[in-house]
Amino acid sequence: MSELATATLAATLRAIVGDAHVLTEGDLSAYEVDWRKRYHGKALAVVRPATTQQVADVVKACAAAGASIVPQGGNTGMVGGSQPDASGTQVVLSLQRMKAVRNLDKGNLTMTVEAGCILQNLQDAATQEGLLFPLSLASEGSCTVGGNLGTNAGGTQVVRYGNARDLCLGLEVVTAQGEVWEGLSGLRKDNTGYDLRDLFIGSEGTLGIITAATMKLYPMPAATLTAWAAVPSLDHAVTLLGLAHRHLGAGLTGFEVMGQFALSLVSRHFPQQRVPLYQDTPFCVLLENSDHESEAHARTQFEQLLEAAMEGGCVTDAVVAGNLTQAHQLWHIRESIPLAQAEEGLNIKHDISIPVSSIPEFVRVTDALLEREIPGVRLVNFGHLGDGNLHYNVQAPSGGEAKAFLSQYEDRVNSLVYESVHQFNGSISAEHGVGLLKVDKLEHHKSPVALEMMRAIKRALDPQNVMNPGRVLRI
Ligand code: FAD
Ligand code: MLT
Ligand code: ZN
Repeated sequence: MSELATATLAATLRAIVGDAHVLTEGDLSAYEVDWRKRYHGKALAVVRPATTQQVADVVKACAAAGASIVPQGGNTGMVGGSQPDASGTQVVLSLQRMKAVRNLDKGNLTMTVEAGCILQNLQDAATQEGLLFPLSLASEGSCTVGGNLGTNAGGTQVVRYGNARDLCLGLEVVTAQGEVWEGLSGLRKDNTGYDLRDLFIGSEGTLGIITAATMKLYPMPAATLTAWAAVPSLDHAVTLLGLAHRHLGAGLTGFEVMGQFALSLVSRHFPQQRVPLYQDTPFCVLLENSDHESEAHARTQFEQLLEAAMEGGCVTDAVVAGNLTQAHQLWHIRESIPLAQAEEGLNIKHDISIPVSSIPEFVRVTDALLEREIPGVRLVNFGHLGDGNLHYNVQAPSGGEAKAFLSQYEDRVNSLVYESVHQFNGSISAEHGVGLLKVDKLEHHKSPVALEMMRAIKRALDPQNVMNPGRVLRI
């Protein structure tokens, strides 16, 4: 784009959203750099519309000027999907001013919220009405519901309530042509043709901009209890999962696994957190039991489960949080693992999924491959075992220079891990998505038929390739 065209577009955008909400100067790193500090872009402008109509007008103006758009929520994504590239020609469309709760329907157990609503605020709005919005991620203080739907986020409650997709009943979307699709249905059943909602969920901003969503709510459980268990191996953790399903039924709302090295990083970088039981065991498991009867009932169920698990040898030691503060402390340890990894230095992240029953063998086989390839490699294993979703992360050998490690090994490590995932019938992304990070790997691992259907959808909905080009798919 010429300088004149850029200046003209900026002026048009200012006329739409107001001078204060078109940012072109000063420190824009909050919008241009990702959470992991792996992607450093340069935006033509950051635009912050306040209404759906303004979003539509911004899209039309950008499309007419030939500028592409990067939708952005909280910018907490892990795969380089929400920052502009370095060309200085992309417009970041931030939804952060669109944060209203439009409606909460207690009878229908739904709430309709704007896309820039911070996840924690959504949870709080539900709690104030005595209801539960169960999506829960460590980034919930800054990620947005638009980003959660854009990535089909998972988190720690999927074992019971499903991914962001499962929690969404309807969407309002601004299309790549700047039209508004009013799909904010609060219906649980609607078989009137193709499911447009599910096309936009998980499309990472490449098909349109989600401006509002109708989300499901649930009754608040009478009691929620948390336990922390030491297990002798991943095989035992999988056995424990089976037992937990049997003993707790739908009460099982969380089942996270954490490897010893992952926990040692939390202990090293956040010494104020006291990590229980990890020093003498290769893995710990965090379990949550949500009960609609009473705390006493939940505690009895947990005690029976842990007793059976200890008798069967799949748990060697365990603690059950005595109160909410203790429960929060245990969850805080788990949620600090990504932060502790970041403190330890640049690392290679994976968010793979494998059928739960195959996870122990996958880890044995893949650990051996990586250890042969990179002597001294440090493997950070943790994640949502209840969903078959592991963060199988790789940290440079101790004392090694992280940047040099990444340039030497990142691509090789990814190839080895994803090849192994493929052998075990898994997916290379369970929750973070593709973004820029995994475009090449997706091309390698997705079938040509699937890729061509995805390209056909992209071409049909966004023929000018305005929406987040280069992410997810190459056209
Ligand atoms: P952004 O990062 O701003 O955007 C993410 C993608 O969605 C981009 O491609 C963007 O273009 C698109 N997008 C954003 N808003 C819209 C919109 N309104 N319409 C269309 N597209 C849009 N993720 C998990 O799944 N599970 C976890 O447990 C988890 N834990 C995390 C813990 C930490 C500490 C951090 C930093 C991240 C974690 N994440 C996790 C990743 C991240 O928080 C999620 O992907 C989250 O859903 C992103 O939301 P966001 O608002 O920050 O989106
Ligand atoms: C998590 O489960 O903590 C996240 O998905 C973040 C991560 O992978 O680091
Ligand atoms: Zn995760």
